[in-house]
Amino acid sequence: MTRVIIIGANGAMGQLMAETIAETQDMQTVAGIDLFPDARTNAFPVFSSLAECSEEADLLIDFSKPTALEANLPYALQHKLPIIIATTGYSAAQKQAIAKAAQEIPIFFTANMSLGVNLQAMLCQQSAQFFGDLAEIEIIEKHHHRKVDAPSGTALLLADAMNQAMDGKYHYQYGRGGNDCKRQPNEIGIHAIRGGNIVGEHEVEFITDQEILTITHHAENRKVFAIGALRAARFLLKQPIGLYSMKELLASNNKKSRLQIEENAAIVTVHKAPFTVSYFARLMKRFANAGIQAELISQSAASQGRMDLSFSIIAGNLRTVEQLIEESSPDISYMIQRGLCKYTVTGSQQIFHSDALNSFLAQLERNFVDILLLSVIGNTMVFFTESEHRLQVGAILAQTLC
Ligand SMILES: NC(=O)c1ccc[n+]([C@@H]2O[C@H](COP(=O)([O-])OP(=O)(O)OC[C@H]3O[C@@H](n4cnc5c(N)ncnc54)[C@H](O)[C@@H]3O)[C@@H](O)[C@H]2O)c1
Repeated sequence: MTRVIIIGANGAMGQLMAETIAETQDMQTVAGIDLFPDARTNAFPVFSSLAECSEEADLLIDFSKPTALEANLPYALQHKLPIIIATTGYSAAQKQAIAKAAQEIPIFFTANMSLGVNLQAMLCQQSAQFFGDLAEIEIIEKHHHRKVDAPSGTALLLADAMNQAMDGKYHYQYGRGGNDCKRQPNEIGIHAIRGGNIVGEHEVEFITDQEILTITHHAENRKVFAIGALRAARFLLKQPIGLYSMKELLASNNKKSRLQIEENAAIVTVHKAPFTVSYFARLMKRFANAGIQAELISQSAASQGRMDLSFSIIAGNLRTVEQLIEESSPDISYMIQRGLCKYTVTGSQQIFHSDALNSFLAQLERNFVDILLLSVIGNTMVFFTESEHRLQVGAILAQTLC
């Protein structure tokens, strides 16, 4: 059970965070910290500062005010506690202090915990790169009238994401007023609207002379941030020291895949078989009649009316296989590789177009493990190695693809 201290526990997000944690089986709020500890009734003790808190914890979650940072970071460092910092409105110096502390403890820091906004940031990066100098970019953010910081941390997150993708070429213009505020080149205009109970709306406009692309995100309710913080918590608890954001969390989701390992596999290769469908069909029929299931069938290109045919068999009677091949055609030559392990990795499409596959193959090479037959179709990869490499390959797969 992960024991959590919520900082800013009596605020709107602190309350939602406690409610969300109470719905889990693996987390428990052991204490809250708030400048006004008695403002609400809670199922856990609330202290006015971390210094007064007597409860032990495994994780800090902060939804409070930037001023709380000067107490939060030293406490987290002293107790070697991972911390999720969801508060917004930090100065550049405070952001530097967070990065410095992340050299000693795991820190998750993001201005927006929702998956949708982080996807919006990725789409904005692509759009900025796509349009280049053709488009003028404006961000309009809308929030409830209680919000104290402007522009919102999320508006800055979106602007920074685009700036990063464009080698820092943009400067930010916060609102416009007066008679000398004509739009400048390489400007991102950022505008804050406040009113009512708007949970959070971020609109990014790419304006060219001929068209306007608008990418908008609406937060329907604030629970999305508490659910995101919970997701971040589970992620952070598994990470070593370092600074993490939604980018790393989303990347870790993409890495997830399923792995199935089967032993007692064999690969049968028939050399220079007749390049005819009828030969292939006859051979498969014989196998079927004998109850032998050939899988992962791979046929080479034809050469002088002949082809090589490879297929895998799991736990089949290899003596019967030999007989059936010999009967299939006179003078046929074949090879059987026995004692193999078959790995089936099913993941998201991205795995097979990402650095993870390169890293996997590089590690196999470094460990002198040869792949005997490999097939990648869509989001599934199947390959074989000698059985003796099973543990090694399993560990490499866990580090890279699974
Ligand atoms: N990262 C995200 O996804 C995300 C989402 C929503 C809100 N936020 C941010 O979280 C913060 C809190 O938002 P909110 O709507 O709950 O605000 P809120 O004003 O309702 O709550 C803030 C709480 O923090 C307490 N507080 C203030 N200073 C403190 C201190 N030094 N130590 C301990 N507690 C202190 C206040 O008493 C209050 O109860 C804001 O910065 C907001 O922008 C971030």
